[in-house]
Amino acid sequence: MKSKTTYICNECGYKSPKWLGKCPGCGSWNTIEETLVAAEKKTSATKSLVRENTVSARMPKKIGDVKIGYETRYNTGLKELDRVLGGGLVEGSLILVGGDPGIGKSTLLLQICEKMGEEKKILYVSGEESEGQIKLRAERLGVTTGNLYLISETDVEMIIECINEVKPDIVIIDSIQTMNREDIASAAGSVPQVREATNAFMHVAKAMGIAMFIVGHVTKEGAIAGPRVLEHMVDCVLYFEGDRQLTFRILRAVKNRFGSTNEIGVFEMCDSGLREVDNPSMMLLEGRNTDISGSAIVCAMEGSRGVMAEIQALVTPTGFGNPRRMSNGLDQYRTLLLIAVLEKRARMNLSNSDVYINVAGGLRIDETAVDLGVCAAIATSQSDVPLPPDMIFIGEVGLGGELRGVSQLEKRISEAAKLGFKSAIVPKQSLKGIKIPDGFAAYGIRTVTEMINMLRRK
Ligand code: TYD
Ligand code: MG
Repeated sequence: MKSKTTYICNECGYKSPKWLGKCPGCGSWNTIEETLVAAEKKTSATKSLVRENTVSARMPKKIGDVKIGYETRYNTGLKELDRVLGGGLVEGSLILVGGDPGIGKSTLLLQICEKMGEEKKILYVSGEESEGQIKLRAERLGVTTGNLYLISETDVEMIIECINEVKPDIVIIDSIQTMNREDIASAAGSVPQVREATNAFMHVAKAMGIAMFIVGHVTKEGAIAGPRVLEHMVDCVLYFEGDRQLTFRILRAVKNRFGSTNEIGVFEMCDSGLREVDNPSMMLLEGRNTDISGSAIVCAMEGSRGVMAEIQALVTPTGFGNPRRMSNGLDQYRTLLLIAVLEKRARMNLSNSDVYINVAGGLRIDETAVDLGVCAAIATSQSDVPLPPDMIFIGEVGLGGELRGVSQLEKRISEAAKLGFKSAIVPKQSLKGIKIPDGFAAYGIRTVTEMINMLRRK
């Protein structure tokens, strides 16, 4: 087939006839590369033919006349994964699983084969490992189902032939970056290859009603190669994240056509694979030392669940030069903003101090409801007086030092009470009309200064 040269952006797939330093599509620099693309087929003739034959079927329908088949969901055997998917794997859906190399994507997908293999036929396609290697891993994970077919292959056409032959209910493609279509001239892993391979798999999956998992590695910047190109094609995008040094792993949905994207699944990596964590709060608070200063407990909402986490702060005198401010697990800018609020509104002097913030356990929190906890941790580290060990802090802090209301306060408090906490400092306005468990004290306050004065008195 005749090929021509085009320039394609590695980030977003933007096409240009000439080289450009900056991509007009996504604004990234130096991402446009020369690519050979097979000449596109003339499709207008076929299109008009299709139109002629299907004109009646293609007429718009009234919404009331549209017939729907109810979605069938499979139980994957991992409750945490089912929850993230919105209640199980939907028949015929396409799911992209992204994450750093070595985080456990292959382990997760191989592990669900055991339960799903009881009723469904599964084809596991690996472009990274040999069949022998996969079998070894499967044995270690206790996957013994006879309904699992393995193939080590990277050629898309061959794989589609196998799918036609085996007729599986579920296909796992590990990973999309290794897949190669011969009719596309660029290298495996490049945007055109990744996009066209996904496209081909999507057509097969939709035509045959196969549920398909596609593994995608994440680039240095933290995005799946050609992220915008793939994300709109698939039904769900899941990210598997966590610190590789720690055993804690979080599965997060960033797109889900069949459920909410707020849910997370929590796993622990052990010798025999991934273990589900029913009570992440307990695990995150394990090993907490209640006698030291600079530690405050917060409750962040992760989907429908409250997750308790420990915010640690270390305020130390600056050795020389500018004071350093670092945060791990929280947004860096949010931390700087809170430090500024403490300095201006609560009159804390941090101008000669380094401030380090860490969320224990490798958790990442994106919620502003933990602001008050961050402020409390900084305040106690500076005064070097530990906080009451059974107290938690909830509230968003505004630039005026005021405490803003938070959602789902009742759920957060009940999660804290379940784990044995006895009191909470919360925004006063959020307390209206909520039920506080017996034996639990919720102190409503209006400003961050009020909290600091309260802690001084304790
Ligand atoms: P893997 O699933 O191969 O990662 P990915 O497919 O995302 O690249 O995970 C590999 C890591 O998991 C590796 O560092 C070893 C660890 N691991 C365990 O700790 N226990 C196990 O039972 C397995 C299978 C892997
Ligand atoms: Mg892998």
